[in-house]
Amino acid sequence: MSTVRPSSAEISEAQQAESLREAMISTLREMGAIRSDRVAEVFRAVHRDWFTRGASLEEVYSATAAVHMKRDEQGVAISTVSAPELQAFMLEQADIQPGMTALEIGSGGVNAAMMSWLAGPEGQVTTVDIDPEVTDRASRLLDAAGYARVNVVCADAENGAAEYAPFDRIIVTVGAWDIPPAWIDQLAPGGRIVVPLRMRGLTRSLALEREGDRLVSRSAMICGFVKMQGVGANREQLLPLRGEKVGLRFDDGWPGEQAPALDGVLDTPRAEVWSGVTVGGRESFDTLQLWLATVFPGFGRLRADPDQRAVLVDEGHQWFDLAAVDGGSVAYVTTRRAGPGISEFGAHAFGPNAAVLAEAMAEQVRIWDREQRRGPGPSFAVWPADTPDERLSEGLVIDKRHHRITVSWPAAATAAGQGNQD
Ligand SMILES: C[S@@+](CC[C@H](N)C(=O)[O-])C[C@H]1O[C@@H](n2cnc3c(N)ncnc32)[C@H](O)[C@@H]1O
Repeated sequence: MSTVRPSSAEISEAQQAESLREAMISTLREMGAIRSDRVAEVFRAVHRDWFTRGASLEEVYSATAAVHMKRDEQGVAISTVSAPELQAFMLEQADIQPGMTALEIGSGGVNAAMMSWLAGPEGQVTTVDIDPEVTDRASRLLDAAGYARVNVVCADAENGAAEYAPFDRIIVTVGAWDIPPAWIDQLAPGGRIVVPLRMRGLTRSLALEREGDRLVSRSAMICGFVKMQGVGANREQLLPLRGEKVGLRFDDGWPGEQAPALDGVLDTPRAEVWSGVTVGGRESFDTLQLWLATVFPGFGRLRADPDQRAVLVDEGHQWFDLAAVDGGSVAYVTTRRAGPGISEFGAHAFGPNAAVLAEAMAEQVRIWDREQRRGPGPSFAVWPADTPDERLSEGLVIDKRHHRITVSWPAAATAAGQGNQD
């Protein structure tokens, strides 16, 4: 019997992969994405390069980059191997223990292999993807990597995977607009769903557990994901502010009917208010996004063609896609330099009510800074669609197809005194 020895090129590539892998694990620990030894160990045991043939090792082992495996006709990514940072954080949120049954929605191979490693030989992992090309590839790569035990199903995951249910854990690795009822029905008692949920155009990875007839969040993290296709897909609507060149994107809370023609509003005089609230270059302000979405009923995400920058802000200033419409007026967040590496938040507004709306937006930035910035952030709950208003938690209510989602904030005093949720 003859054995095939790896060539010296293969050996040096394996060594390079190993050193990049260790560097990635250290970075993920420093970032707080890996918090447990088990998740560090699974990143060591499951080699990402087994599942990302064709990509460079540097790309594959970057802690923060997704590897795009497939794009649609417009060039938009529809299938990716998610960034290690996201996978690590979601695996920590899921806390998969040996012997558990787990469902992954959206397949790529690598994350299902990690889930299978964590569930161990007594556990069972199923992964579902709507795209047969993706499932064929995942199946092949999982087999080759020694994870043939993972069940790979080609289907629209709107219906879960009833034949392998119930699940102790469900990890959704595609941006969901709502929680389909099947996911909750197929969740075992005491189970947990980790899902990147889109709310007012903002996506948060929520770890949700059952409490009575609703799901409540245990942790939340800002993230971005390709959007879900199939029955659960939701189309974004664009409210034009300057033809097709500048507009507000809404994927729920569409204010189109109430908003009189806003197209052209950016050609009216601009109101500008600065908040006095500053932010460091690398500081996250993801709770500000959710705060503005909560307090402004017409909250949407601003999008502009690159050549429209000069219309939106002065030279050296930056615009953010956090915006709100109110009647015929629109306001959005901007920043200006306040010192080395420090910027001050402000608001620009246009339309008949511009001055009032710009001041209202700057004031909400001040309130967030005073009452919520250093707090744990909001909690989220997913209620049945027929839940009456009076039963819902205080805060923002977002009506979806199957559920009502609430985003609730701690009282100001509590928020000011606590650290981050995760
Ligand atoms: C970010 S990728 C999954 C990444 C993967 N879990 C990994 O190992 O990195 C998202 C996947 O979701 C799939 N998808 C989109 N809509 C779906 C649906 N309704 N049902 C099942 N899969 C869906 C896409 O085909 C795509 O392959």
